[in-house]
Amino acid sequence: MLKTKIAVFVSGGGTNLQALIDAEKRGEIPNGEIALVLASNDSAYALTRATENGIKSVVVKRKEFPSQETYEERMKAILDENGIEMIVLAGFMSLLSEDFTSLYSKRIVNIHPSLIPSFCGKGFYGLHVHEAALEYGVKVTGATVHYVNEIPDGGEIILQKAVDILAGDTPEVLQKRVMEEAEWVLLPKAVEMVACKLRKGN
Ligand code: GAR
Repeated sequence: MLKTKIAVFVSGGGTNLQALIDAEKRGEIPNGEIALVLASNDSAYALTRATENGIKSVVVKRKEFPSQETYEERMKAILDENGIEMIVLAGFMSLLSEDFTSLYSKRIVNIHPSLIPSFCGKGFYGLHVHEAALEYGVKVTGATVHYVNEIPDGGEIILQKAVDILAGDTPEVLQKRVMEEAEWVLLPKAVEMVACKLRKGN
């Protein structure tokens, strides 16, 4: 069966990348194939996960380019060279412009560690999201997978899952629970849904 070729963009530990790799190995992403890992920095542990699983990887650093335009041109060239049809942002902390996201309309998905529209947008990433949820005092948080457009965390929602906040939670404890109960479950499901849609051409 022809599969949608996927690039996973990462910046850090890559536990969501690992969830995708494991799901693909279990046959849970029959319509997609992780063909490339693109990291924003060379110290991302996600690169080790790619190597250990025989997945091609590349590092593209924003600061090595004179402009956002040339940075994104380089990424586009790499994606084209590798026949990439779909992008997954899995803890990718570098910004993408509308020029780039519009090239891949309904072909880029992002995982965000809250129930959008809460605790999202500019400045809400990684541990900060959980700090903000605890500070506000919400009793339920979760994760969201959404399409990426020009608005930070503003694209159409694909899947969401709620996670309870428990007494005594720290940002680190909550982050781990949100990952285990929501992110690592949702992301492979959403990726298969979108990869399947792309195969069917809609
Ligand atoms: C994940 O919690 C992901 O949802 C979050 O960064 C972490 C990356 O972890 N992404 C954002 O906050 C994006 N706004 P990982 O590298 O272990 O997958």
